[in-house]
Amino acid sequence: MLRLASRVPDHGKLAPWRFILLAGEDKDAWVARLGAIAQTRPDSEKASAALGKAGPSPLCVVIVSRAAPHPKIPEWEQFLSAGAVNMNLLLAAHALGYGANWITDWYSEDPGARALLGVAPGERITGHIYIGAPAATPLERPRPDLEQLVTVWRAEDQPRPR
Ligand SMILES: Cc1cc2nc3c(=O)[nH]c(=O)nc-3n(C[C@H](O)[C@H](O)[C@H](O)COP(=O)(O)O)c2cc1C
Repeated sequence: MLRLASRVPDHGKLAPWRFILLAGEDKDAWVARLGAIAQTRPDSEKASAALGKAGPSPLCVVIVSRAAPHPKIPEWEQFLSAGAVNMNLLLAAHALGYGANWITDWYSEDPGARALLGVAPGERITGHIYIGAPAATPLERPRPDLEQLVTVWRAEDQPRPR
């Protein structure tokens, strides 16, 4: 799955992302430590409740962007590559029959939670991909109305060049 996830467009071949794997008892220990950090936050109740999504799956893949200033490749393109890694991993997990969900939540940005995973100051967590056997069919939701989002550019609609 990680091999599939890392087959992404990557302008400049920088691999501007990395993976941190959390599995089994180590993942449980990570969630417990996040629980302790949650207690120290002003939004402790909400932060603790959010950890409900972190608990059930046996595996979490944290995808960390290492995007940095580069003479040729804009940083935002490096971020887009990391986004593609997240999506590829979701697709790979679903294609293999697992359930998978992309979550950022407070512990992507919280300094203590970042330190817990060894995320360096210039790095950004782009997602926690929780993977496991699907416990239920995911809820469906209204999907974007493409009529509102798609336009077709036609040369004939454009003002004539002088
Ligand atoms: C970058 C990113 C971060 C997300 N973070 C969260 C999150 O922290 N909590 C959450 O409930 N959903 C989050 N989501 C949304 C879920 O991944 C997902 O879209 C939602 O559960 C509905 O799934 P569906 O779009 O397949 O119906 C995030 C999505 C993206 C793209």
